[in-house]
Amino acid sequence: MIKFHEKSKTFHLYNEHISYLIAVEANGQLSNLYFGKQIKDKEDYSYLMTKRSVILAPCSFHNNLSFTPELLRHEYPDYGRGDYKTPAFILEDKSTCSEVSAFKYDSYKIIKGKEKLSYQPSVFGTDINTLEITLKDDLTNATLVLAYSIFDNKSSIVRSAKFINNGKNELNLKKALSMSIDFYDKDFDFIQLDGAWSRERHININSITTGVHTIGSTRGSSSAMHNPFFALKRQTTNENNGEVYGFSLVYSGNFIAGVDVDNYDVTRAFMGIHPDTFSWNLKSNEEFLTPEVIMVYSDKGISNMSQTFHNVIKNNLITSKYAHTPRPILINNWEATYFDFNEKSILDIAMQAKELGVEMFVLDDGWFGKRNDDTSSLGDWYSDKIKLPDGVEALSKKITDSGMKFGLWFEPEMCNIESELYKNHPDWIISTPGRDLTYGRNQLVLDFSNKDVVDFIYNSMEKVISNSKIDYIKWDMNRNITESYAKNLPKENQKEFFHRYILGVYDLFNRLTTKFPNILFEACASGGNRFDCGMLYYAPQIWASDNTDAIERLSVLSGTSMVYPISSIGSHVSACPNHQLRRTTSLKMRADVAMIGTFGYELNLNILSDEEKKTVVEQIEFFKEYREVIQTGDFYRLDSKPNYFYYQIVSKDKNTVLLFAYKVLATANPGMKKVRLVNLLDDTYTCINNKKEYYGSELENFGLELEVEFTGLLPAKNYPGVSYSGSDIGDFTSQVYVFKRK
Ligand code: GLA
Repeated sequence: MIKFHEKSKTFHLYNEHISYLIAVEANGQLSNLYFGKQIKDKEDYSYLMTKRSVILAPCSFHNNLSFTPELLRHEYPDYGRGDYKTPAFILEDKSTCSEVSAFKYDSYKIIKGKEKLSYQPSVFGTDINTLEITLKDDLTNATLVLAYSIFDNKSSIVRSAKFINNGKNELNLKKALSMSIDFYDKDFDFIQLDGAWSRERHININSITTGVHTIGSTRGSSSAMHNPFFALKRQTTNENNGEVYGFSLVYSGNFIAGVDVDNYDVTRAFMGIHPDTFSWNLKSNEEFLTPEVIMVYSDKGISNMSQTFHNVIKNNLITSKYAHTPRPILINNWEATYFDFNEKSILDIAMQAKELGVEMFVLDDGWFGKRNDDTSSLGDWYSDKIKLPDGVEALSKKITDSGMKFGLWFEPEMCNIESELYKNHPDWIISTPGRDLTYGRNQLVLDFSNKDVVDFIYNSMEKVISNSKIDYIKWDMNRNITESYAKNLPKENQKEFFHRYILGVYDLFNRLTTKFPNILFEACASGGNRFDCGMLYYAPQIWASDNTDAIERLSVLSGTSMVYPISSIGSHVSACPNHQLRRTTSLKMRADVAMIGTFGYELNLNILSDEEKKTVVEQIEFFKEYREVIQTGDFYRLDSKPNYFYYQIVSKDKNTVLLFAYKVLATANPGMKKVRLVNLLDDTYTCINNKKEYYGSELENFGLELEVEFTGLLPAKNYPGVSYSGSDIGDFTSQVYVFKRK
């Protein structure tokens, strides 16, 4: 519901869960009165913004000391007119070089439903109403349109901003964030998801204080260092209780996000394209639309916030036809062979996997050009006839004829110096004239801001895909951008490069997904260097991390699931000792972790013992039975203690409940352990593992007692009937419990 109260000039966006209140202030600026749990609608909420005067605070009107922009809680703060916190935008009038603008409220429009955009990712759906508030700057004739989309039934609002140059003079947009909001107080903890290659999206929580705290990326991709997400939670909020606000940027390029807390304890939260590597020229009649931010409110803890994100992403963001389809169990040859394979070794791996129940084979890096290591061939998207004499075309046919699906790896944005592509188009790589090149994994990045480059890559990929039997594509991106410069852009447009680059990536994604709607895409960037809502618009799953170690993956899972649905988290069982950490965990533990995700194997199954193969068959059977619950159910992180991770998934019909319990290190002679489940019905549940029956209220309030840990070896014969040694033995253990509602 979107209401405009004419007298008080207040917009109230609300549904049964949330309210968002915006007021038009006396100077024409917009202020934020409230965002949070739903409050009843009424005509006038102006008392929520107490006006007061403070010496030193600039005033908008002569003889009125109480209207000061410094003390307003702004909706989309400008620069240079009395608000001294982080501005949401900076618009330069190129005729004067002035960066001061004064947008005043002009009009509003309400739009039913929300359409998809093709040139950049966007939330869409029929269960959405959008309020567009138009503001105008009289001096430059620039127009600013702030969009707020509210769902009929989800605790979420989607925001963006559009700048239109309706004047004659050229403007330069030096900063254009997607959203900014001022909260009344600073009693928040800041949640961010941090990491690096092979340890992405670890949860990092800190209290906020006066001053500015930001996270971001200027690497050309959203990055493994900071995910384009943050949340503000109350200090007492935990996984299943309390208030939290989450913000997720629908964008895959450079971004900034953070808080600016002033001396009056007002917390400004903001998010958008990183201004350090951005500006956009607006000639007369040109416009610029920012990426969107999905904002979520929960008063039932962090897991509930995550569920709202999952719900919005699955129903209103992923465009793929596979958004709600359980994903095929795959075998990927990367950690099994790296670059060293031929058609026979690939068929051996695929056929063994098929025999054990795997549904899709994915051929990873190394099938094209002359690629035997990472020094050559990126860009040459045709089969290596030495490894694959009849090409990927024939191999894909052999595999699909056997009844398996077939998937193929590409790294479309890249190029090696040793490649036909570089020989023919050396000017297509990103480089700054006169400067040395910087390499990443021996490769260079193609200039995707240039349409000719995107056309060429589209045509070469389209040829291979059309001539082969391809069900799945893994789209990789393995280096960050340096020496950014677009040779096809005039010098005054150079700071548009990074945004134009990512629009080129979206263009290629859009063309491929439109031409091949039946192909399941998985995004990847050295694992999770670009795990974001922009990618999910085109690819419904993303390889979460190059680290396949089960223990590391628990931290990756906790962080990733904070925003992204389980069906989007690419996860595989790999060989031990693990290739990234040299750690050894059991085959059971590895599968129990990989199952909370898309699930697959990334090792040579031929070299497993018969007993291990039997275990793999059982794991696959289990996953096939429960993958729909896992990938479409409601996911909860239960409050975990250090050393223990607990997750719960409840099927949509609430008939099946899965409890995943993991222990990292064994403790000497520990106490007993139980875990309390959440959000069950008070019906009877049968636990398949121990055949016992429990009421939902028992499992919620007392909890399930977990297996007894090892308590030191005592001779069992001396103590008949007493289990001194326990059943949860050693480091790195896991249990998956299944409950069926009667
Ligand atoms: C990246 C990916 C891996 C694999 C290799 C291939 O590191 O994240 O999964 O595809 O590239 O070179």
